[in-house]
Amino acid sequence: MSNKVLILDFGSQYTQLIARRARELGFYSFIIPGTSDFKRIQEFGASAIILSGGPNSVYDQGSPRLPKEFWEYARTKNMPLLGICYGLQLFAHEMGGKVRPAPKREYGRMRVNVVTPTISKNSDMQSAVIHNPKDAHDLFHTIPHFEAWMSHGDEAEQLPQGFSLIAESASGAVAAISHGTLPWAGIQFHPEVTHTERGADILKNFLTRVAKLKPDWKMSDVIETQIESIKSQVPADAHVICALSGGVDSTVAAVLVHKALGNRLHCVFVDQGLLRYQEADRVMKMFTESLHLPVTKVDASERFLSKLAGVTDPETKRKIIGAEFIAVFDESANTLEKKIGKRPSFLVQGTLYPDVIESSPPPSASGGASSKHAHTIKSHHNVGGLPKDIKFKLIEPFRDLFKDEVRQIGKLMGVPETFIARHPFPGPGLAVRCLGEITRERLDILKLADEIYINMLREEGLYDKIWQAMAILLPVKSVGVQGDGRTHSQVLALRAVNSADGMTADFYPFDMGFLSRVATRICNEVRGVNRVTYDITSKPPGTIEWE
Ligand code: XMP
Repeated sequence: MSNKVLILDFGSQYTQLIARRARELGFYSFIIPGTSDFKRIQEFGASAIILSGGPNSVYDQGSPRLPKEFWEYARTKNMPLLGICYGLQLFAHEMGGKVRPAPKREYGRMRVNVVTPTISKNSDMQSAVIHNPKDAHDLFHTIPHFEAWMSHGDEAEQLPQGFSLIAESASGAVAAISHGTLPWAGIQFHPEVTHTERGADILKNFLTRVAKLKPDWKMSDVIETQIESIKSQVPADAHVICALSGGVDSTVAAVLVHKALGNRLHCVFVDQGLLRYQEADRVMKMFTESLHLPVTKVDASERFLSKLAGVTDPETKRKIIGAEFIAVFDESANTLEKKIGKRPSFLVQGTLYPDVIESSPPPSASGGASSKHAHTIKSHHNVGGLPKDIKFKLIEPFRDLFKDEVRQIGKLMGVPETFIARHPFPGPGLAVRCLGEITRERLDILKLADEIYINMLREEGLYDKIWQAMAILLPVKSVGVQGDGRTHSQVLALRAVNSADGMTADFYPFDMGFLSRVATRICNEVRGVNRVTYDITSKPPGTIEWE
């Protein structure tokens, strides 16, 4: 491909979403830290550059900055630039404008009006709400106004030299600016998150109208690139072990690596005792009968549950599970060594980008998860939960991708549709849905309640309309009356969300009739539960899983 979009990362939780939107629009994209050497930026040979958001304030000492040669380079090359949030503020800070703490933090959805561009005279910014959409800047072609997702505490008080205001938020703050002669624009909102109406169109307008690029990249390119990369990463005599969890990501990763390495791949499916109702048997059948993958099942439920006994802290649970998984793979590798005469030295994992960004990412040479600034949300078992002295080299072909992109790859590689359409299930399994102490008895309650809920979603035609649904057993008891007697039993929460990629999510608006039918069945059929609640929190502020 000839068009390459470079994303300079300043630590936003959403940076990979920008890359993903560029891919969706048919552009190859690559992320490196915004503070990279100028040489690295120059050598990439970008056709357009996007500056991400970030948690810092541009006016703080030590806040991340572009290398000093950057602006002159972008100016002389006429390089199309889009600054998002912190990126816009960098324009203002570096080019004679002014950024200040906003009088009121803008967080959440906010209406943005596209305005007639008027060159700023710095402090006295003039603008007029647009009447003729033809006057809109190319960035807002056919978009006179929209609801945008804002997440910032600073704002541009004075525009940078040579820039004009092209959109403002309902509260009158600067929402977008553009340069009078250069293809440079800055936006205060996040077009990359699905909460921004027409956000993808705004990015498309930037790439195709402002930068004047033509899309020339497709998802099947990822398969070819990854197969080549796996072949060159793994020496010809090396063997590879794959941690199958029964979920879509690790399964598609296994299919991809199998294509690259054939019988040098050995899959291990670990039953950690934290799987759903009868899940272990169901997925083993699918691996062997539909996908013909070479899989060994290891029943490790006893050792996982005994390590987790008495543990209630979510991060501790995740770290224990991460370490235990690796211990099991180590032992499986030893067993394989006896069988094939060579110890596997690589471990394949179906790690996705949201796992990485929420687990405090290390800087990555591949350009993914490059931020030093993003905060830890939770240690996904396959990233932040891994022990430091891991003996395997990791192969993670989807580390820069999102769930639905992996689903597309799975489809392209012939993984059955019924499997691809399954709701995501986290590696630490029911451990992060059994809040408080994990015991076999509590897990059995959770498994049965979850099975009833998920089956009812299927029976009522709702399963495929929902991105992810689950039951959660709370560490709370409530008083109830069942039959003629008083009960003091456990409380169960139900959750269902829709999401494009797991990064943001909205709770699913069930009708009350459905919720009431599920609650009745669960209280009647699951001994030990006398109350059911429904979680109506979106992400943010909640996360999808409760732990
Ligand atoms: P959260 O709870 O972070 O979840 O909003 C986002 C998505 O990631 C899944 N998830 C995990 N997947 N290992 C995984 O493989 C993990 O440790 C893990 N934690 C959360 C979660 O189910 C949702 O789809």
